[in-house]
Amino acid sequence: MRMVRVPGGIFYNGDCISGASDIADNSVDLIITDPPYGIEGDKLHRHYNRDESFVTDGYVEIPADRYGTFSMDWILEAERILRPGGSIYIVSGYTNLIHILNALYHTGLEEINHIIWKYNFGVFTSRKYVSSHYHILFYAKPGGKRTFNTECRISLTEKDEQGGSLNYQDREDVWIINREYKPGRVKNKNELPFALLSRIIQYSSDEGDLVCDLFLGGFSTARAAIGLSRRVIGFEISSAMFDARIDEMKDIVPGSLLDQIRTPLMPGKKLTRKPWTAKEIDLLRNRYIELSGTDKSEKEINLILQVEFNRGYWSIEKTLKQTSIKTQRG
Ligand SMILES: C[S@@+](CC[C@H](N)C(=O)[O-])C[C@H]1O[C@@H](n2cnc3c(N)ncnc32)[C@H](O)[C@@H]1O
Repeated sequence: MRMVRVPGGIFYNGDCISGASDIADNSVDLIITDPPYGIEGDKLHRHYNRDESFVTDGYVEIPADRYGTFSMDWILEAERILRPGGSIYIVSGYTNLIHILNALYHTGLEEINHIIWKYNFGVFTSRKYVSSHYHILFYAKPGGKRTFNTECRISLTEKDEQGGSLNYQDREDVWIINREYKPGRVKNKNELPFALLSRIIQYSSDEGDLVCDLFLGGFSTARAAIGLSRRVIGFEISSAMFDARIDEMKDIVPGSLLDQIRTPLMPGKKLTRKPWTAKEIDLLRNRYIELSGTDKSEKEINLILQVEFNRGYWSIEKTLKQTSIKTQRG
């Protein structure tokens, strides 16, 4: 299998299922991947209303009747190479979602979120609703500490004009992110936007971590990850797709995209320091009781309360103790 090294990355032109055997068990921090959709992706231009003359040819599709075994094979490899605590994000359309979910169900990976990505350029239909979303399945390998950088983009104290928490909004599981429109530039049919990739990379990895993409396509994940100072390993089976992008990858300077991402505003807005009113204490108490009935840890509950009440960790803890609800729970 042809292998090319670039600053920050190692790329293989070949099948990811056999090729992943070169990657050690438990060695990858984050997998972001977008497998072929099994819907004749190599003929998608028949449905989309856009100029395909700049789209790279060579996309390798999986026949629908092989999609189940194919998904099982690569997802088992993904599980093997992921470190305990490592995260995996799989982008999937609706048609073969069942096969991806079924394969995930047969692994030890645990579901963290099922994200809906709403995008533009949906498939045009006249007698039913236009399909304009994908599923992003966020799972993690148990047995280690999972990286989730809660305040990597927006601090817990940043608010919108109505006083709503921007951090909360950024971490909701419906993402409205448009595909990038690149008229006149070479592109892959399904390139993922940088806004989507940088969000995943920022929340679920740290600089220097190893990110893997088993289905590189137009190398969008690799480009974003190297640009954000992560290391990357990836596979693309199509020689045409690989050759179209590999030279460009050699020129990407690690860290060169760090100035393009959202980071917390410094200094963030101040937390409320006003004394708690009786009404607020009552609301806090009720909300704590409600959250205690879920499977959330004390730390997660405190985090939610910080966002909702615009108070710091200790302010929440102290007030809960005053209401005596915290000691009652244990
Ligand atoms: C949906 S596209 C990936 C798009 C990519 N995320 C991007 O932003 O450009 C899926 C890619 O997987 C490739 N592929 C299909 N089967 C493969 C396999 N067994 N191993 C590696 N790549 C494969 C296809 O050629 C295609 O380029």
